[in-house]
This record gives sequence, C-alpha cells and structure tokens, in this order.
Amino acid sequence: MEARDSVGTIAVIGLGTMGTGIAEVVARHGFAVRAIDIDDATVSDARQRIEASTDRAVARDKLTVSERSEILDRILFTTNLQECLTSDIVIEAVPENLELKRQVLGQLDGLLPDRVIWCTNTSSLSVTEISTAVSQPSRVVGLHFFNPAPVQDFVEIVRTVVTDDEVVEQIRVFAEQIGKQAVICEDKAGFIANSLLFGYLNHAASMFEQKYASREDIDAAMRLGCGLPMGPLALLDLIGLDTSYQILDTMYRQGRDRLHAPSPILKHMVTAGLKGRKSGRGFYTYAEPGSPEIVADDHVAKRDASDVSVRGVNAVGVVGSGTMATGIIEVFAKVHHRNHGFG
Ligand code: 3HC
Repeated sequence: MEARDSVGTIAVIGLGTMGTGIAEVVARHGFAVRAIDIDDATVSDARQRIEASTDRAVARDKLTVSERSEILDRILFTTNLQECLTSDIVIEAVPENLELKRQVLGQLDGLLPDRVIWCTNTSSLSVTEISTAVSQPSRVVGLHFFNPAPVQDFVEIVRTVVTDDEVVEQIRVFAEQIGKQAVICEDKAGFIANSLLFGYLNHAASMFEQKYASREDIDAAMRLGCGLPMGPLALLDLIGLDTSYQILDTMYRQGRDRLHAPSPILKHMVTAGLKGRKSGRGFYTYAEPGSPEIVADDHVAKRDASDVSVRGVNAVGVVGSGTMATGIIEVFAKVHHRNHGFG
C-alpha cells in the first residue's frame, strides 16, 4: 500500500496492548506513525509485537515480505515525545487514568500545529474532562478502538459539547481510511459498547468468584450457547483485568449502577499480578505473556468419569411441539440417522 504522505503523520502515545494495536493498524493502512512511550522496555516490546503480528500475516499470505517491511519502515518507535510535534493527529492511548491523560496532552499543548486533532482512546473516562487539558478543546475527540485493534473493524467517535463538527468529520474519514466502521456517540460513561458489555463481564467474574460454575463452563455457555466469539472470562483476560477493573470502577463512580461495581475478584487478581493474557495469567494460564495459547493449570475442571458407569440410550421421548422441542427432535433424528441410516 502507498504511504499516505499528504496526510502527514499520526502519533500514537502509550504502547500498551491498545496503543500497539492502533499503531499497527494505522501503519498497515499507509500512514506514517510515531509510536511513543516513555519506557524503553515498553517501546521495544511494542516493536516486537508488531514484528510478530506482521510476520504471522506474511506466513498466512495476508502480506508480502516487502509490504511487511514497508509497514515497519513507516513506524518510528521512540521514547522521545518531541517526535510527535509534526503530527496531524495525536492518538493518546496511555493507561486509563484521568490525570495521566491530561498530563500527556497538557505537556504537548501549544507545541503542535493548530490543525492537529487530539484523539483519546479512553474507554470510559470523560472526554470533556480530558479535552480541557489543551487550549483548543474543540479539537479533541474520543476515538475508542476495540481489542484486538488490528482485527475489530469498529470504532466509537466520542464528541463533547464543544467538539467542532469539522473535527468529527475528519476523524470519521480517518476511521474509514484505516478500515474501521465508526459510530458517533455522546460523552457518556462507557459510550455504547462498554456500557453494555462490562455489566455482563463483571457478572461473569462474580459468578466465577461465587463458584457458580467452572471458568470453562461459564465461557462455553456464552461461546457455544450464545454464539459469541469468546466467553466472558477469556475476554476479560484479553482486555486485561487491570484495564477492566479501571473501566468498571470509572463507570461505577459515574453512574452508581450496581452492575458496574467491580467484582472483588478482579481487584484481588490485579493486585496479585494476574492481569490476563498480557501477564501470562488471569482467569486462564497462557503459554507466555502475550500469548493467546491457553495451557493447563491447577484449575482445570476435574471430570474424572472413570468410576461412573453409563447406560446406553436407545430411545428419547421429547414432550412438546414448540421451537425448542422441534429443534431437539431434529438433533436426535440426525444422530440416529448418522448411527443407523434411515429406517
Ligand atoms: N492482535 C492482532 N491480530 C490478532 C490478535 C491480536 N491480539 N488476535 C487474533 N488476531 C488475528 C489473527 O492473526 C487472525 O488473523 P488472520 O485471519 O488475518 O489470519 C484473526 O485475528 C483471527 O484470529 P484467530 O484465528 O487466532 O482466532 P479467532 O478466530 O478465535 O479470533 C478474536 C480471535 C479476534 C480475538 C475473536 O475471538 C474475537 O473477536 N473475540 C472477541 C473480541 C472482543 O469482544 N473485543 C472487544 C473487547 S471490548 C474492548 O476492546 C473495549 C475496550 O475499551 C476494553
């Protein structure tokens, strides 16, 4: 893909899970990127993760070797905040802490061209409160990505009462250019998706804590029973338990909705360093930090059926004739057909 020189550069500040994914997707769509974090180790980790992700894309014939190197060449990984001074768009993706976000934006205020658009990837904080850290709050919007940012083709654009219409439109076009479908929402805690999602995730954590069912069974219920791509506990691990706790805490403080009062287990796990996939352990244990591969641990649901004798089933009676009864009859008829053929 051609580099989009005319648009200038996009700065992504904060290279955690989300910032790294955002830097990758922006570079993959042809933009020059300044990928910035204050911590050397975080910057080098982000580089490695983007190298690994683009490597995987080459192995799966999704990118050519030369496209991969063009993408990597487009990204300047740095700890120097000054590198973003010529950027047209700044995307702030530092941890979910209001003071920190305001500090990052405030530090750059007045140093970038007037045309700059400030985006914050906050998941739940008030974009309005973040926006007053710069002298032109009308040029600040929320640009909320979903994890994994290179995969989820959706963003929420959050406008405040003072955001310029022109800024919202420019970011809508930018979202389209990086392959994301955008919706525009008001500055309300959790916007649309998190507001709906996190009550459910929190409830799943509480069910696990109360030993309602095993983690595997809770996840299977939603994955297989409800057709979601992953179960809630695996999703909490993917999002990060620290991030999830912060989002719930912010939403609870703002709305006082009991559904968002963080389940105590989240705080305990975060305090113990179990942050989910990124730390190698959360509700599940992973092959290594950052790996999606779940490995066996002490909490695997024990199902030793060796002592139980199971009688063969020859016939099943289904009582009822509604949608569910008809579906259940169909399931058994298919098994019978597979085992015995017609007749
Ligand atoms: N980074 C980059 N790419 C990734 C990735 C990651 N972390 N995880 C998976 N991928 C890519 C794979 O490389 C693969 O790409 P390809 O099709 O080009 O080869 C593709 O995604 C599919 O991956 P897999 O085949 O390994 O696995 P799945 O088909 O099971 O998909 C999933 C994995 C995309 C994570 C899917 O399970 C899913 O969509 N889960 C739900 C995620 C979700 O709900 N996200 C929103 C969370 S809320 C949020 O982010 C808001 C924030 O404020 C907290």
